[in-house]
Amino acid sequence: MAIALNDLTYCVLTFGCQMNKHDSERVSGMLDALGATQVTELNDADIAVFMTCCVREAAEVRLFGQIASCKNEPLRSGSPLDQRIIAIGGCIGQRDGEELLARFPHVSIVFGTHSMASLPGMLEDRLQNHLRSSDTTDDRGIPFSDLPQKREHAWAAWVPIMTGCDNFCTYCIVPYVRGRERSRPIEDVVAEAERAVRSGVKEITLLGQNVNSYGRDRYGEPRFAEVLRRVDATGIERLRFVTSHPKDLSDEVIDAFASLSSLMPALHLPFQSGSDRILRTMNRSYTRERYLDLIAKLKRACPGIALSTDIIVGFPGETDEDFEATYDLVRQVGFAQAFTFIYSPRSGTPAASMTDEVDRAIVQARFDRLVGLVQDQAYRFNQAAKGETIGVLVEGASKRDERILAGKSPKNQTVHASIPDGVDIDELIGSIVPVRVDEARTWYLSGTVVDG
Ligand code: SAH
Ligand code: SF4
Ligand code: F3S
Repeated sequence: MAIALNDLTYCVLTFGCQMNKHDSERVSGMLDALGATQVTELNDADIAVFMTCCVREAAEVRLFGQIASCKNEPLRSGSPLDQRIIAIGGCIGQRDGEELLARFPHVSIVFGTHSMASLPGMLEDRLQNHLRSSDTTDDRGIPFSDLPQKREHAWAAWVPIMTGCDNFCTYCIVPYVRGRERSRPIEDVVAEAERAVRSGVKEITLLGQNVNSYGRDRYGEPRFAEVLRRVDATGIERLRFVTSHPKDLSDEVIDAFASLSSLMPALHLPFQSGSDRILRTMNRSYTRERYLDLIAKLKRACPGIALSTDIIVGFPGETDEDFEATYDLVRQVGFAQAFTFIYSPRSGTPAASMTDEVDRAIVQARFDRLVGLVQDQAYRFNQAAKGETIGVLVEGASKRDERILAGKSPKNQTVHASIPDGVDIDELIGSIVPVRVDEARTWYLSGTVVDG
């Protein structure tokens, strides 16, 4: 008897950036629409979909290990299958395509970042005819526009406004696995935001590798600041966006932090290196001075703004002096949060063939010093919230104590707060409650829910 998708369970395992998280919601949306049942554990899943990331080698190696070991995991009792169906999607799927079928005989489906919509057909082929297949074609459309979406959280929505990247930073694999920049028509974006607001979503995060260059590829389309204004006008309570490239961040967008009430006082603005010489070899198209200039404008438009960033340590040719420039830039800016990465050569990128690698021990020592500074800054940033009463978007109970709620502040800090007697946390999930901050640590704030 033929096995149908509605007899099967699936889980989606997501790695990498917000773009993959969003894509996973589309994959779940499609599988749900076909009648399959979502589970959270691999052990309970008849179908496992890996949404993969290849931005750095360490993550990729771990992921390959996980895909390999999944061969030995038994199926749930009662599964109609004799073998779990394993699919690889996302950025490694796009990069390696069919090779993955040869490398992993227990994997039967590979799809890329442009071909999520092929997954249902490939699943049918596997179920009905035992076919193994891969699809990494790119028809240059917007890969997700027409696909259903199943949000991970009812209160938060990722709304992609563009995909791909045209920047070709010399270390980065993303332009090769996500393709060229493509903006979604503004009317699609606004319609999706309006639907989200109507369904009770409190926070929208606009997504793209480089949101500030929105519209450049569509003749006559408005620019990013207009997208912000239009989405703000939907009545959404909290609006955020990632990621911004310093070369494209306009004064109009900076001004939006002062003029749009829903735009939260937090911005992720990766600078990668504080050395002009390294920024040039990274092909970043801005200088240290231009970056500091943007930071000054942002602090004027939005005093107390929570700035976060990405930094790469040990890029080929990085001298002590270059690293000191990075360290000093962090000191000057004062970040709320910084993601620090050790440079990882990615095959096919220009930097991978640069020969002046930095000694590993030196890189590690620089990295550790930088992490120390970043943690001090996070601690200091959080201290400033002590005594304040802030709105917290409740995500659930904290892991340690079910009478303590966990949520996010406007500045994207994690907040833990004890709740009044007689209140059920489940009833607060997805709402914004006032919390008085009593304690501040490096990674979170803690406080008490107070009367609004
Ligand atoms: N589009 C975003 C995010 C790109 S990937 C942006 O432009 O900011 C996220 C971060 O990974 C980058 O900001 C960079 O700091 C880091 N990264 C990318 N490639 C890397 C590599 N080869 N080695 C180490 N870190 C890398
Ligand atoms: Fe990668 Fe640079 Fe594009 Fe960001 S802007 S995705 S770092 S190439
Ligand atoms: Fe990774 Fe792909 Fe995002 S390589 S960082 S999941 S765009």
